[in-house]
Amino acid sequence: MLPISIDDYVSSDHFVRFITANGLSSVFILTRGSTISLNFFLFFSNILTHFAFMIKNLKVYFMLNIAIFGPPGSGKGTQSKMLLEKYRLDHISTGDILRDHIARKTALGTQAKALIDKGILVPDELIAQLLEEQLTEKVDSNGFLFDGFPRTVVQAHILEDLLSKLNTSLTCMISLEVDKEELTRRLLERSHIEGRSDDTLEVILERFKEYTHKTVPVIDFYKNRDTFFPVNGIGEPEKIFETLEGLIDNVVRDKK
Ligand code: AP5
Ligand code: MG
Repeated sequence: MLPISIDDYVSSDHFVRFITANGLSSVFILTRGSTISLNFFLFFSNILTHFAFMIKNLKVYFMLNIAIFGPPGSGKGTQSKMLLEKYRLDHISTGDILRDHIARKTALGTQAKALIDKGILVPDELIAQLLEEQLTEKVDSNGFLFDGFPRTVVQAHILEDLLSKLNTSLTCMISLEVDKEELTRRLLERSHIEGRSDDTLEVILERFKEYTHKTVPVIDFYKNRDTFFPVNGIGEPEKIFETLEGLIDNVVRDKK
């Protein structure tokens, strides 16, 4: 175990710090009276500390954070399933988290249900709270897949701040482009299968309005950061997934 940080090592007086932090093992070496083995032990310990530090930094560097973006019914959930399987990311779907709260009848769920059933976005403060809980729970993540988030410019800023606290950033935002006629067809078809309370024609139209007014401005936020990638979302889901794979692999290669 190496409880001494690299900063401790580079600052003066290694020896005293080492004895303090490593108590028993140091005493054992000292009682054997071997300066050589103590020096060797310090040297070895120093190398390991460097190595652990490097691994930690490499992990941050390779964290893959994807946001899957698009209007209601564009296939965010469908593509997320395939992306999660391939890239082994932590899935953060704000819609699923809210539906889970509704099913568990939490206070937040009750508040969210009234809005979701009308097709209106849940306030940013509630989403920020949910998100912070999710991200801090998953400190050892390889990366995150955000599905249906961020949905407002305020949420985009919240995400940027939270990721920067984790020493990382959004790798890419992928937008699934599908026309309204096809979106409506898909959602009405899904209403017969899944029975989601917001898949009625009246609520679908309200969700489209919310998307146009509150969510579309998020596109410019990511265009300005060169992380916005539009993709044709019409066609076989597997073919669309192949396009996403190619795009992600290219972005990752360019960023390395
Ligand atoms: P959310 O659950 O995120 O819903 P949504 O954005 O409206 O999108 P959907 O989940 O309906 O569609 P999807 O794009 O995932 O498509 P899917 O793969 O399912 O949000 C629900 C509500 O929660 C919001 O209205 C809001 O009130 C609230 N909320 C959530 N997040 C929030 C946030 N961040 N801020 C504020 N409020 C928030 O596909 C749809 C159907 O099409 C399926 O049946 C699927 O099988 C089919 N399909 C998929 N791909 C294809 C394809 N290529 N070809 C043919 N059919 C396809
Ligand atoms: Mg979805």
